[in-house]
Amino acid sequence: MKNLGILLSGRGSNFEAIARNVQAGKIPAQIAVVISNKEGAAGLATARNMGLETRFIPSQGKDREAFDREVVSVLKEFQVDVVCLAGFMRILSPYFVRAYPGRILNIHPALLPAFPGTDAQKQALDYGVRFTGCTVHIVDEGVDSGPIVCQAVVPLLDDDTQESLSARILKEEHRIYSEAVCLLVEDKVRLQGRRLMRKD
Ligand code: GRF
Repeated sequence: MKNLGILLSGRGSNFEAIARNVQAGKIPAQIAVVISNKEGAAGLATARNMGLETRFIPSQGKDREAFDREVVSVLKEFQVDVVCLAGFMRILSPYFVRAYPGRILNIHPALLPAFPGTDAQKQALDYGVRFTGCTVHIVDEGVDSGPIVCQAVVPLLDDDTQESLSARILKEEHRIYSEAVCLLVEDKVRLQGRRLMRKD
């Protein structure tokens, strides 16, 4: 059974969706540890209530790599195979990315490579695209730039606000993040350049 490590900084709804699918036996893995750099993160409380192992590792005032070394040592302690960034509001150092090559996933609320960075839903509204969505990608040393694992398309409606659009995207995030985790833990895919291909 593969071990998942979840990293979050806030609400944690993507984590919760993954955890429910793990509980339901829909993801052949277990959540070994949930780590947050924010003590008051709602997702950390949810994880505790679910009886999962949790760790609060403060990031404030720490050098990026020093913090990442602490996180990686906890992930190693729990023998984590796949790391899921679920609203983790930090950019990973090359040290972290190299510790888990091809085994760190992130969810972004836009159809990458469109609208990387923060406020992706607002960026889509401001630009006036007809469709946006969400992307699960493998984390590389750039920002929102790694190979794409899963995407879902969400149309923009005339009366959309940032809140209404974000809510519709979030529903798709919850669905595709678990799909992407399954692809990785079941070892069904391989990378050919940037393209994720199904193994025969
Ligand atoms: C999501 O919109 C995700 O795409 C982005 O941060 C948000 C996290 O939401 N990376 P939650 O904490 O999973 O509810």
